Amino acid sequence: MNDVLYFNGRFTTTAERVLGVEDRGFQFGDAVYEVFKFLDQRPAFLLDHYRRMDRGLREIDIRNPWDEAQFDAVMRELIGRTSFAAGIVYVQVSRGEAERAHFYPDHIQPTAVAYSRAFRFPDAAKKERGIRVITTPDLRWKHCEVKSVNLLANALAKKRAERAGAGEALLLGEGLVREGASSSFFVVSGGRLITHPLDEHILPGVVRDRVLSLAHGAQIRVDERPLREQELFGLDEAFITSTTQGVMPVTEIDEREIGNSRRGEITTALQHLFDEMERRDAQTSARPSPLPGRL
Ligand code: PDD
Repeated sequence: MNDVLYFNGRFTTTAERVLGVEDRGFQFGDAVYEVFKFLDQRPAFLLDHYRRMDRGLREIDIRNPWDEAQFDAVMRELIGRTSFAAGIVYVQVSRGEAERAHFYPDHIQPTAVAYSRAFRFPDAAKKERGIRVITTPDLRWKHCEVKSVNLLANALAKKRAERAGAGEALLLGEGLVREGASSSFFVVSGGRLITHPLDEHILPGVVRDRVLSLAHGAQIRVDERPLREQELFGLDEAFITSTTQGVMPVTEIDEREIGNSRRGEITTALQHLFDEMERRDAQTSARPSPLPGRL
C-alpha cells in the first residue's frame, strides 16, 4: 500500500520519486520538519505543529509556503485521501532546489513535502511497561529549538540506545539533562514535576506544552529548570513525551531503576489526561473536506 504524498501543490503517492538531487534539504539539511498524528482521519494539535514550523522557518530564513488556512486545508486533504484511519503525517519544508553552493539564493522556491504513514502507537501494555533509557552526550548544533532535519546526532544517539537495549537516549550537555533524542523529558522528584525550560537547548515539544498545562490544571507543582546529571539518581518518577509516544514512563536510566521500575502515579495521571486531551482535540477538529480551487 502506497502512502499519500503531497509535493509542491499536487497529490501523488510515496511510490513516486519527487525530490531533486540538488534540493538543499537533501544536500545541506537546509529544511525544517514536523510530525503530527491523526486519529479517525482527524489531525491532533495541527495548529501547534503549524506554529512551531512557522517559527522555525522564520528563524532560518525560509519562506513558509503555507499560511495557516492553506496548511490546514492541505493536511486535511492529505489525511482524507489516506486509506487508513490513524497514523502520522511527516511534513518537510526545505529552502528549495538550487545549484549546489553554501551561499543560498535569496529568491528560491521552497520545497514542500508531506506524506502519511501508518504507525503502530504504543498499546496499553507498553504504556504501562514504559521504556529504559541511556544517557549520552548532546552533540547537536546550538539551535535545538528549530526542528531542523539535521538529525545526525539524534540518529547516532538513538542507535546507541537501541544497541544498549533501551528505547531512548537522554542527551547531556554541560552536565545538564536536555531532552531525549526524539522526545521531551520530565521527572518527578519531591512531589514536583521538573522539565528543562524552553530555550535553544531543547525542542519546544507540542506534547510537552500540553502536559505542562495539564499538570498546572491538576495542581501539580512544576519547575521548568534543567536537571543536573547527578539528580538522575533517586528520582521518584520519569517519563518522556512525544507525538508518537504520548506520555511514556521511563523505568530505568543507565541501568538504574526509577521508582521500583513501575510506572509512577503522576506519570499515570498525566498519561490518561493527555490521551483524553489528544482524543478530544482530534475529535473536535473538522473532518477533511475537499480543497477549494487549486492549491
Ligand atoms: N520528535 N525533542 C526532540 C529532539 C524531538 O525530535 C521531538 C519529536 C520532541 C517531542 O516533540 P513533540 O511533542 O512535538 O512531538 C522533543 C518527532 C516525533 C520525530 O522526530 O519523529
